[in-house]
Amino acid sequence: MTGYNVVLFLHITSVIVMFGCLGADWVAIGGLRSARTAGQAEPWVRTLEVSASIGPWARLAVLGAGLFLAIDAWSWQGWIIVGLAGWVAYVVLGEPLTGRELREVGALVRSADGDLSPVATATLRHPRMWNAVLVRAGLGAGIVFCMVTKPPAPAAAVAVILGAAAGLVAARLTTRPARRIPTTHQAS
Ligand code: HEM
Repeated sequence: MTGYNVVLFLHITSVIVMFGCLGADWVAIGGLRSARTAGQAEPWVRTLEVSASIGPWARLAVLGAGLFLAIDAWSWQGWIIVGLAGWVAYVVLGEPLTGRELREVGALVRSADGDLSPVATATLRHPRMWNAVLVRAGLGAGIVFCMVTKPPAPAAAVAVILGAAAGLVAARLTTRPARRIPTTHQAS
């Protein structure tokens, strides 16, 4: 067994953890979209927060091990450059699941008591987080395709773009049109 084997093992293990976090996000966003009370939403917010505390480390480990593998044995072939760009897109697209949006949702749910207001429900069902999950899933599948088949750059780019586009289409098809939110005056 070589050092390369060990780093490849670490790379793939980190990919598994990274996709495990994505799976947790997927289930949690699904749960938030159907929550009617603060009590129902709270465990899903907690799930997102746990995922947001582990995911960045897994993504960094994927990058670190991937860079080692690329430099050690591959030089900068097209599929590696596309994989790197795809990794950056994966990180950026996840912002709603880890950044300000998650903090806002957490604060909203924790400050609520009993039934969620129409405004809070609309916030929890905002398509941005759902889009982020499904586009990431498609993009991730495209990157795995590149890593496994190692195609030339144009084919790798098509695979990654198609994967992300498929995720976006799936997100759009599974997002119900937003209902009109009553004004505060009507809601009270
Ligand atoms: C979301 C990001 C990534 C995912 C899902 C991913 C996934 C994978 C998988 C599943 C393999 C195993 C392929 C096989 O053994 O046939 C692999 C290998 C590899 N990855 Fe990644 N990877 C990602 C990011 C990166 C990045 C950013 C780099 C480099 C900058 C990279 C470089 C490599 C290299 C060089 C290999 C070695 C292939 C081999 O020895 O066969 N990966 N990756």
